[in-house]
Amino acid sequence: MVDVILGLQWGDEGKGKIVDYFAANYNVVARFQGGPNAGHTLYVGDKKIVLHQIPSGVFHQGTINLIGNGVVLDPVTLKKECETVGGFGVDLKKNLFIAERTHLIIPTHRALDKAAELSKGEGKIGSTLKGITPAYMDKTGRNGLRVGDLLHKSFITNYIKLRLKHQRILDNYNFTEDITQWEEEFFEAIEFLKELNIVNGEYFINEQITQGKKVLAEGAQGSMLDIDFGTFPFVTSSNTISAGVCNGLGVAPQKIKEVIGVSKAYCTRVGGGPFPTELLDETGELIRKLGSEFGATTGRPRRCGWMDLVALKYACMINGVTSIVMTKVDVLDTFKDLKICTAYTYDGEQKDKIPFQMSRINIEPTYKKFTGWKKETPGFRSDDELPLEMKEYIEFINNYLHTPVSYISNGPERDQLIKLYA
Ligand code: GDP
Ligand code: IMO
Ligand code: MG
Repeated sequence: MVDVILGLQWGDEGKGKIVDYFAANYNVVARFQGGPNAGHTLYVGDKKIVLHQIPSGVFHQGTINLIGNGVVLDPVTLKKECETVGGFGVDLKKNLFIAERTHLIIPTHRALDKAAELSKGEGKIGSTLKGITPAYMDKTGRNGLRVGDLLHKSFITNYIKLRLKHQRILDNYNFTEDITQWEEEFFEAIEFLKELNIVNGEYFINEQITQGKKVLAEGAQGSMLDIDFGTFPFVTSSNTISAGVCNGLGVAPQKIKEVIGVSKAYCTRVGGGPFPTELLDETGELIRKLGSEFGATTGRPRRCGWMDLVALKYACMINGVTSIVMTKVDVLDTFKDLKICTAYTYDGEQKDKIPFQMSRINIEPTYKKFTGWKKETPGFRSDDELPLEMKEYIEFINNYLHTPVSYISNGPERDQLIKLYA
């Protein structure tokens, strides 16, 4: 069977840490979408590592990691990551596999991403500029190059054809940056990539399932950044929700069992787009400071706000979430009062549903106030140590969502995770 761990908000919920923790119980960890726009932070001992494309199970001996066909893969980033991970003694020849149907991000995809963002001016999405959207456009436009193509003699000819097509678009944007160095790095990196384990991902994963092996699918980004259900157009270009596991790995829906959603105890978002509970005051500033809310991929400050249950309930619905891991509760330790958004007012009415085009309308959040626990929690390891006020905060969320919060994370390190019995 396949279990899934994915983000329920706008990304950066702490998926990397949680996947790393749970990976010990799985034989295979597989990324099913996204690409180097992701930045998944985990700790190996006291060393912090940010993974972009390699699944977060890679530090567990005996766990196989698969980059699935739904990912868009940048060989340059991959080579750098492999070097970092290899430095920890991980044998990637043994435990990293890449699906041959995975689409490649080529240097002109990155250039196109940059040119397109620049042309949007004020309305820019805030893309990570890693070439994600152009790569997915070439996939659906049936032009893209895939990992398996690298092994075929037609690769260079097809690369040149695609590059020329991109150049015409770049000329239209008046994009004149020199990308020679990117290309040099790219060609070096594809030689490296060719030496890794390139497999037919769908047979690979289904054989594992048939043999009774346990598979964990690792999501990137978050449900509110999903191309269909997120805050379009301020989204990423893939299906970040649990349905993405099926087409991103080639597994059938009935093979999916647990869907574990990761949510912060508050909300953050990086890049543009609507964010109803955003705090543009000193409280938001304080959350950013206490939570070190700066992007793991781009270093940009993350926008911060209160927990939004309207959005979280929607995310639980579209993903079929079976349980929630709530991260970064420790960040709220010093707050006297806390707030949770329980409804939106828009079009003159109070509602508990996500509207069609969030970015076009004015949304007024309704809040329920909570008393903060005002205790230092990072040292806690068991659920009976938790302050009553924190239990009340969590219980309210459980009741609102009809989905249990089964773990809380109270610090960035692997063992700072508490199972809740209630
Ligand atoms: P991801 O993209 O979902 O994997 O999340 P990121 O790695 O981008 O961002 C999460 C950040 O929060 C990282 O710096 C983590 O080390 C950190 N983190 C994760 N869980 C916790 C937690 O429970 N408490 C605190 N204080 N930090 C956490
Ligand atoms: P992880 O996996 C947070 C955001 C970008 C931008 C929008 C589109 O670490 O949670 P893109 O580069 O995909 O074209 O950017 O999506 N974004 C993320 N925000 N976490 C991520 O990944 C993100 N990946 C993309 O900031 O607003
Ligand atoms: Mg991240």
